[in-house]
Amino acid sequence: MNFYIMTLFPEMVMNGLDTSIIGRAIHKGLLSIEAINIRDYAFNKHNSVDDYPYGGGAGMLMQAEPVYQCYQALSEKIIAGKAEEAICAEQGVDSETPVTKKPRVIYLSPQGRTFNQTMAEEFAKEEDLVFLCGHYEGIDERVLEEIVTDYVSIGDYVLTGGELPAMIMVDCISRLVPGVLHNDVSAEFESFQDNLLEYPQYSRPEVWHDKRVPEILLSGHHANIEKWRREQSVIRTAKNRPDLLEKAELTEKEKELIVNLNS
Ligand code: ADE
Repeated sequence: MNFYIMTLFPEMVMNGLDTSIIGRAIHKGLLSIEAINIRDYAFNKHNSVDDYPYGGGAGMLMQAEPVYQCYQALSEKIIAGKAEEAICAEQGVDSETPVTKKPRVIYLSPQGRTFNQTMAEEFAKEEDLVFLCGHYEGIDERVLEEIVTDYVSIGDYVLTGGELPAMIMVDCISRLVPGVLHNDVSAEFESFQDNLLEYPQYSRPEVWHDKRVPEILLSGHHANIEKWRREQSVIRTAKNRPDLLEKAELTEKEKELIVNLNS
């Protein structure tokens, strides 16, 4: 999977993502992450990419042209890369391979759809994803209309730019790419799978600060452990995120458990 991040702060994005699990996945060739500096496409001698908003108002806006030129250069590069791959695979550029398919472009903005695990799963099916990070008071609307396919927010609060939201999305989508996590099953059984929160987990020692690990986890009885974990997930979700339960698939017994919890 290839991520391309259009930004005025490429070091911020690359330094943040080139570590730990995501860094290892990049070095293994499972992912590629490239930050493209929008300022490289400035069209004036001062290298500036922002200007005052028409109609007045506080702050500056990122101008349409540098963002557009940056996007054009990037999408041509992505398409050329695909054509080369097709030739290498001896399919030829005229084959059915959709070598001219433009990548999805995600604009990070509090005005977008709120990011969640289902969206991450959908984005993880793409081979290429482009993120556009705004700064200052945002970006000239006209270029957004021209290039953006998805508007995404990471929550109902306002940040200084789209870089942190893009990094959050890249992290979340990356861990769904096969091979990125050590254990392929671990992406499946975590929080938000089945719309339930994750059960509590414990490691050594058995007793810490007078708190014992629940006895069932030491029993070696896998079926009972699974049953206990599922129950804990249901209880935690009911207590901490009851809103998630609406979409969870619960058995009659589990529904009863929740009713008893609340009574
Ligand atoms: N840019 C500024 N705030 C944001 C948010 N909450 N989500 C996505 N992009 C943003």
